[in-house]
Order: sequence, then structure tokens, then C-alpha cells
Amino acid sequence: MSDTLTILGLESSCDDTAAAVVRHTLGSAPEILSSVVFGQTELHSAFGGVVPEIAARAHAEKLDICVERALQEAEMPLGKIDAIAVTAGPGLIGGVISGVMCAKGISAATGIPLIGVNHLAGHALTPRLTDQITYPYLILLVSGGHCQYLIASGPQEFTRLGGTIDDAPGEAFDKTARLLGLSQPGGPSVEAEARNGDPKRYRFPRPLLDRPDCDLSFSGLKTALMRMRDHVVAEKGGLTRQDRADLCAGFQQAIVDTLAEKTRRALRIYMEQNPNQPTVAVAGGVAANTPIRTALMAVCAEQGAAFCAPPLALCTDNAAMIAYAGLERFRAGDQDGLDLTARPRWPLDKTSPAMLGSGKKGAKA
Ligand code: KG4
Ligand code: ZN
Repeated sequence: MSDTLTILGLESSCDDTAAAVVRHTLGSAPEILSSVVFGQTELHSAFGGVVPEIAARAHAEKLDICVERALQEAEMPLGKIDAIAVTAGPGLIGGVISGVMCAKGISAATGIPLIGVNHLAGHALTPRLTDQITYPYLILLVSGGHCQYLIASGPQEFTRLGGTIDDAPGEAFDKTARLLGLSQPGGPSVEAEARNGDPKRYRFPRPLLDRPDCDLSFSGLKTALMRMRDHVVAEKGGLTRQDRADLCAGFQQAIVDTLAEKTRRALRIYMEQNPNQPTVAVAGGVAANTPIRTALMAVCAEQGAAFCAPPLALCTDNAAMIAYAGLERFRAGDQDGLDLTARPRWPLDKTSPAMLGSGKKGAKA
């Protein structure tokens, strides 16, 4: 195998159609030669959330254009690509199938090897792409569909220490935005609104802090928010700009405090097993939130651990992370055949039992 590998990555598991080219030469830092993301926010905005069927159709329409642009921007003809990495799950199944079929088509037509990538591994390995951190490290994966603490020991070796038993924080941000009439995705709009708010005016619960482990729960926060909103509306006949900002600030602070404390606990467990490598990384869309990043950085400083948070554009969904995760697998001699299947669920830690909170119909991880 050549010392230099150039990988085309494809991502279509939720509402971003993305393609990227990543190159890595042994002994040097990986390079993102291109990273193209076509968002679908406006297609879903009338519905207050991602509509799976609309998302799948939009991916199928945009994937080839996206791939073409990524190759052009990287100045890489297909003939110079060593492998195609594609998100094969977990995610909205129609979108995942669109990506997998597109990658299989290119692979079948050109003979370029195919690699199915776990979307969560893409997020979890991003700190290696951006900062070349070495295994093992503790990663907090925090996005619209997931929230878990994992020890990353290899491209496909993850041990879960804990995670959410119900909603993910991104989901809670999105629901909060919907309840307060803010735009989607909810994370950035709630964060912006919270900047002008008083986090102490409304007191939100800090769920599961009474339990010693690092499991989390976020579904109660949205119920609390709804009650507080309804109370203000019943009292005053509506919400002022300031009420809305204060609600956002209180809600966000509850998530910040909970993630900070649970990260402290996860770090303690991690350090017992890996005392010589105190590294914490955060990844996933919610890792783009500045107060969350700042709080996690403070926890790491207090515990003497290094902290790594990828640049914002690589926290949310993108294909550079998929190309990179595929590159690590390919470098290790691993690849898939044309029988690669799309998987709606695909836990990173195959040995941990599925996490399931009360009232949930399906496992989160
Ligand atoms: O990782 P991602 O792009 O998609 C997956 O869920 O896999 O994450 C999207 C989630 C959305 O729920 C969005 O509201 C949230 O990340 N998000 C944020 C911020 N930016 C994106 N949440 C809080 N603060 C942000 N600045
Ligand atoms: Zn994601």
C-alpha cells in the first residue's frame, strides 16, 4: 500500500448531503483537500424538523453534483482516488441508502475499493483528523441523535462509559427552538438567543446528577421549558423578547452544567484505566456550542487533561470526517464489498447493552 492515501468521502445520514476528499501521507498530518456540504434546512423548515422522505430524495438528487464538486475543488480526478468511504449508518435509512448506492455505483463502475463508515466513528475520529491526537482518548459524542461517552482505542474500538437514556442534547435544543418559535436547527438559534438572557431567572432541572454514573437524560428539560413557557404566557398573555432569551439561557445552562459534571465523572473512570494519556475530545453538532466547549475546557483544565474540540465546521455533519474514518480502516487493510448494507442503527460499542429510557420505543445507541 502506498504511503499516501487519497479518500473520497460521502455523507447523507441526516439532512446534509456532503462529499470530501482527504489525503494522508504516513508521518504527516492528514489534509482536507475539499469538503462540500449541501444543507437542506429550507426544505424542512415548514415542518419544524427533518422529514425523512424529503431528505432521502434531496440526497439522491444532490449526491452526484456534490461528489463532482468535491473532486473538482480537490483537483483530483476519480482515477487518483484510492478508496470511497461512505456513511453506511446509523441514520435516517432513506438518506443512508442514497449515499451507499451512490458510492457502490462509483465503485462498481471504476473498481475503486468501497468502505462503509459508521457515522458516529466519523465524529469520534474527527479530533485525530484535525489535531492528530493519539489513541486512547475519552470522547464525548454529542449531536442531534446521540450523546455518549466513549473510550476510543482504535478506528473501530470503542468502549462506552455512559450516555443518554432518552433524548440527545441536539434534539432538546431543536425542540426548545420549536417551542419558542425560533428557527431550525435549534442549537445555533437557542445559543444566539441565550446570549442576551439571564440563565438564573428560570431554574431548570439538572437530570440524573443524583446518580453516580455518567448516564444522561434530556427529555425532561423540554417538558420543563414547555411548562415555564405556558406559565409566562398564562400570566402575561405572551412572551417578550427578554422572556424568550431568559428561557433559552436557563435551558442552555442546564445542559452546560449537566455535561460538565458528567464529563468530570467520565474522565475519572477513564483516568483509572488510562492514567498516562489524559486526553478528552468532544465531537458532533452540539460541540459547536461555545458555552459547552468553554465548560468542558474548564473541567479538563481542573483535572489536568488535554482538551480537543474540532473547528465548528467539522463538528456538524460533513464528509471529511467520513473520508478520514474510512482512511484509517483502509490503512489497516479493511474494506467492504458491493454487498455493503445501510444500517439505521449501528452502535459503536457492540458489547454494551442498548440504552433505553422509559417511554422510548427504540434504543438510542
Ligand atoms: O452532528 P450533527 O450535525 O447531526 C447529527 O445529529 O448527527 O448535529 C446536529 C445537531 C442539531 O440538533 C443542532 O441543533 C445541534 O447539532 N447544534 C447545536 C449547535 N450547532 C448545531 N447545538 C447547540 N449549539 C450549537 N451551536
Ligand atoms: Zn452527526
